[in-house]
Amino acid sequence: MREEKRLKIAIQKSGRLADMSIQLLEKCGISLAKSRDQLLCRAQNFPLDIFLVRDDDIPAFLATDVCQLGILGENGLLEKQALGNGKFAGLRQLLPLGYGRCRLSIAVPHDFDYQSIDSLNGKVIATSYKGLLAQYLADHKIDADIVTMEGAVEVAPRTHLADVICDLVSTGSTLVSNGLVEKDIILQSQAVLVTNQIDDPEIAALAEKVTSRIKAVLRAENSRYIMLNSPIDSLEAIKAVLPGSQSPTVMPLQGRDDMVAVHAVCEEGVFWDTMEDLKANGANSILVVPIEKMLD
Ligand code: PRP
Ligand code: ZN
Repeated sequence: MREEKRLKIAIQKSGRLADMSIQLLEKCGISLAKSRDQLLCRAQNFPLDIFLVRDDDIPAFLATDVCQLGILGENGLLEKQALGNGKFAGLRQLLPLGYGRCRLSIAVPHDFDYQSIDSLNGKVIATSYKGLLAQYLADHKIDADIVTMEGAVEVAPRTHLADVICDLVSTGSTLVSNGLVEKDIILQSQAVLVTNQIDDPEIAALAEKVTSRIKAVLRAENSRYIMLNSPIDSLEAIKAVLPGSQSPTVMPLQGRDDMVAVHAVCEEGVFWDTMEDLKANGANSILVVPIEKMLD
């Protein structure tokens, strides 16, 4: 019997993206055997193997075709591409995943007189993102020295290893607790689904299937099903208030000839403001419910 072909995806083993990435695959109906300490994890019900690796290594797993899909921070991918002498040039971002948001920023000590990016001329900057920082400095014609550090970049100014830093910021608490102030954002980042050229058509079809499931999950997560009763006279006004909905279903309400029921899928946030607007336009019995899955 011919061995079944399996798609391989690389995700972060531990760290900021790991749990969310596993949850995302689970929402796609892909359940993993729960042995998270192993490098390789077979999906139970889909021809997919999950490689749990360091995020730094994911671009190389893709570039060498060990894996055909990967989930990593856009910052990590772009840094590899900036440094990689073309080795990672073929990697393509398929979609942003909406989690793991952070930014790569220049941060300086409180007493550093930062006027503009020009204030970095002649200074020493500590970072784990040499490639992206060097590009940014070159783009702005700044002549500064870069000190590369693997971690604990935030302590570099205090220990006089550097004048300022360029590091990832998400909540900002690392900066605050190290007496640093964010001054300039080099890059906004989030988790992204990445691929390389896939030559095998069967594997390409599997990758396409996983990608479209992920798209469907993300769409459902951002969407709400909204139900309300509307006076017939204000139906048009109410439709106009419904955020990002195509064509709502309008149904008669038994025993009422002045009111109808309206059901709609809203592909944008439904906030209290939206509900109050609907009510102000005469809607009542407004219900907003999450959507678990959607597929067109
Ligand atoms: C990043 C960054 C900061 C911290 C910022 O490190 O280097 O240390 O996160 O996050 P915050 O703004 O929420 O405080 P990460 O956790 O990725 O680990 P690493 O430094 O060991 O790579
Ligand atoms: Zn850090």
